[in-house]
Amino acid sequence: MAAVTNGTDPAASGTNRGEEQAPPGIDVKTPSPARIYDVFLGGKDNYAADRAAAQVAIEAGPDIPRAARDNRAFLARAVRFAVESGIRQFIDLGTGLPTQGNVHEVAQSLTPDARVVYVDNDPIVLVHARALLPPSNTTTVIQADVREPAAVLDHPKTRSLIDFDEPVAVLMLAVLHFATDDEVRDTIKAFREAMAPGSLLVVSHSTSEGHGEAGVKAGDAWKNASVAIHDRNRKGIEALFDGFDLLEPGVVWVPEWRPDPGAKSDTRWMYAGVARRP
Ligand SMILES: C[S@@+](CC[C@H](N)C(=O)[O-])C[C@H]1O[C@@H](n2cnc3c(N)ncnc32)[C@H](O)[C@@H]1O
Repeated sequence: MAAVTNGTDPAASGTNRGEEQAPPGIDVKTPSPARIYDVFLGGKDNYAADRAAAQVAIEAGPDIPRAARDNRAFLARAVRFAVESGIRQFIDLGTGLPTQGNVHEVAQSLTPDARVVYVDNDPIVLVHARALLPPSNTTTVIQADVREPAAVLDHPKTRSLIDFDEPVAVLMLAVLHFATDDEVRDTIKAFREAMAPGSLLVVSHSTSEGHGEAGVKAGDAWKNASVAIHDRNRKGIEALFDGFDLLEPGVVWVPEWRPDPGAKSDTRWMYAGVARRP
């Protein structure tokens, strides 16, 4: 297997974690989506099993780490767009390990009164998020499964920070591909019913579309992970927005969603779209 070339090769950097550094109760032998993604982003909160899994994806698609960074840049643009649209409250489903440009950092840099509920079902995300997030009355993190939307919507911390009579931005970035069609449909429906008119649904979603055999091989990275990956094409991802008004430019490759001037990336591993709740 060729060496990882994205600058995250643990042997090269010597910065990634050893199993002895794992927080108690964390299964480091089974690759986790949050930690595989952390490898792509050049983070250090990952373990040997995660790095081996990430390498399978990178072998198939050497620009997958760049696609992950493009996804983070999309997150920042979408949060900025939401704030400029007057939205002051965010629910970030499938938060991932804290990295640069987290939702509250982007939103509160523009409007300090922005409120953010982070949601993830991976205990390691909670360990790191709680350690990094200072106690705050504007930002909180809860451990819940997006496939059980009531557990998120009815959580006391959600209810204390989010006013469902006001527009809210619900972020589902790089998370829905970890759920089946039925689970995704039910989750989005539950959030749509809870969201006030004018709210935004923000989605990014991985795809193998256009990659042929390399796409199948990249998907093998999650074969032994704690949760399976579900491939969807552009049409399938557009269908996620049923019941919402999809905003321009529709569902497009992540770097093409309202790019910042001068942005050049052209990765083709994730689609993105933003829609308004009518
Ligand atoms: C690829 S990361 C994406 C992180 C971040 N949303 C982003 O786009 O940069 C996917 C995250 O979704 C979380 N996740 C996967 N399935 C989930 C579920 N059913 N409920 C809650 N979180 C989930 C994983 O633990 C991981 O942290």
